[in-house]
Amino acid sequence: MTIAYGGDYNPEQWPEEVWAEDMRLMREAGVTMVSIGIFSWALLEPSEGVYDFTLLDKVLALLQQNGIAADLATPTAAPPAWFFRAHPEALPVDRDGRGLSYGSRQTFCPSSPAYRTAALRIAGELARRYADHPAVAMWHIHNEYGCHNPACYCDESAEAFRRWLRAKYGDSLASLNDAWGTAFWSQWYYDWAEILPPRATGAVPNPTHQLDWRRFCSDELLALYKAERDVLREAAPSLPATTNFMVMFNFDALDYWRWAPELDVVSNDHYLRSTDPESEIDIAMSGDLVRSLAGGRPWLLMEHSTGAVNWQPVNRAKSPGELRRNALAHVAHGADGIAYFQWRAAKAGAEQWHSAMLPHAGTDSVIWQDVVQLGADLKALAEVQGSTGTATVAVVWDWDARWALELPSQPSEELRYLDQVRSWYEPLWRSGIAVDFVRPDADLSPYRLVLAPSLYLVDEAGAANLTGFASSGDTLAVGFHSGAVDENCHVRLGGYPGAFRDALGVRTDELFPLLPGESLALSSGGGTASLWSERVALAGAEAITSYAEGPLTGIPAVTRNAYGTGTAWYLATRPDPTTLAGLLDLIRREAGVEPVRVTPEGVEAALRRGADADYLFLIDHAGKGAEVSVAADAVELLTGEPVLGGSVSVPAGGVAVVREPR
Ligand code: GAL
Repeated sequence: MTIAYGGDYNPEQWPEEVWAEDMRLMREAGVTMVSIGIFSWALLEPSEGVYDFTLLDKVLALLQQNGIAADLATPTAAPPAWFFRAHPEALPVDRDGRGLSYGSRQTFCPSSPAYRTAALRIAGELARRYADHPAVAMWHIHNEYGCHNPACYCDESAEAFRRWLRAKYGDSLASLNDAWGTAFWSQWYYDWAEILPPRATGAVPNPTHQLDWRRFCSDELLALYKAERDVLREAAPSLPATTNFMVMFNFDALDYWRWAPELDVVSNDHYLRSTDPESEIDIAMSGDLVRSLAGGRPWLLMEHSTGAVNWQPVNRAKSPGELRRNALAHVAHGADGIAYFQWRAAKAGAEQWHSAMLPHAGTDSVIWQDVVQLGADLKALAEVQGSTGTATVAVVWDWDARWALELPSQPSEELRYLDQVRSWYEPLWRSGIAVDFVRPDADLSPYRLVLAPSLYLVDEAGAANLTGFASSGDTLAVGFHSGAVDENCHVRLGGYPGAFRDALGVRTDELFPLLPGESLALSSGGGTASLWSERVALAGAEAITSYAEGPLTGIPAVTRNAYGTGTAWYLATRPDPTTLAGLLDLIRREAGVEPVRVTPEGVEAALRRGADADYLFLIDHAGKGAEVSVAADAVELLTGEPVLGGSVSVPAGGVAVVREPR
């Protein structure tokens, strides 16, 4: 087995003569697997029920001859024009009631029965035709569910939403009225038919209505995934199925904790944000989250880019060495396959300015050289395949909490879930601390430290799990505006931070969010606080630092509480990055958590644990090169050289992967 290498392959965009060159160059680059057919519905089914598989037959045969596996897609992300002419009701309607047209991709209503029928029909045709094809290694179901159509507000969707609500609330409108708090603003429902999607309305819509809507939208797309998967499974019971997740900065439509168990192999797409000066941290964080979604098992990076994308205001190219650092960082965080969008850069169409493995310039290009080099690197890392992570720190990540925190009419709209999680993740990453992500109700026994930044919404079971972790001897650190509401978005009364008050040994009677740009001096270490403050009273905890100015002068900003046989910390504000790093360092030291390796600043260290060896990834993002201590009998896998003298050299801007036998 090797680490899979490849990308989206769209031969339908090119004349047949080009395909032979594709095969030759794929072999030259060491490509082992490509995703095909993702956007080929209009070609495969030129009119309803009429199929033409000539292209796929030929391409699959070519791939087979060349020893390249196919990740065969169901083409259901891009229904053909004929479908919408026959079923205009399957086109989505946005929140403002505006109907969208076909002409791009993924513009369909997730609750449309006509879409579902058509999607399952083409998936079934493909499944029966190619179930036993020797080139087909995996099904790639749809593409990035919800990327362009996370929600549809049409009447069909309203019906589906009502069905979902009736199932959730046991057919009881009284339960729904209670859960949604409809006594507020005269919102009582007396008939299920009165309930609508949260369409554009004059003032702020009901928060629980909106939250249930987000849950419904995620479930509705998941139902489509499962329906396609079941059709494929019936024809090909032993072929694994995946769909590419979008665990990255700007996409929050799907609760992937609910999705991941339905996939045979978890795969993810990740792109860099041009405005993020440290996107390597985003790669690490998304990799850790995807590995955690996969239950600790390896996962596949289904898409990223060799260079610039085409969908940001300005699309930055990658710096020298960045392609390699990016790809190997995904491997470091658990990817067992590295793939790009796309194999050959398109000359026409909406993504003609998106980079690819084979750029417009052809093989006489830096990107192509890097792509060939990466193929060789991944071959050299074959033995890493199957190894997994080693974290003893878990960060709580929850889509329900994210959705609820970012509903309108919060104490501060400056508070964003991803920003908070990332601000806590960053110092851990810089110190080489291995991190998993967990749901609030996860099994926490592998961990010594659990961090819960701004876990605004948490149910009783989740809160009890987290506080129980602390009371039984471990360490919990909770960020501000946590535990405030239950699963119905109802505020926990008696003081904040609701569910965590007792464990943290504090009680807040009033929140004092800070204005953009405002910061307050802290009493110790010269640090400052921004974004948030609250009037915390100690109820058993000790103050670690307090506000040194402003209306809360002398009030604790960070506290520590001995709870049961463990410890519970409360970070009631956002400390400046240096102060936060110092605090998290103290917290993890007290919890007995050590870095995977101490490295110079800017050199990322990540560890994968195999059956009888550890694989230490060292990635120099600072561009200075470094010497890092490793085991005496270690081997650097990218060069194949034994490491002499117990110290490995990481080249400037480069990567070293060290096998350390255990
Ligand atoms: C992804 C998508 C690909 C391609 C890529 C461009 O979101 O799955 O088909 O559009 O973005 O970055």
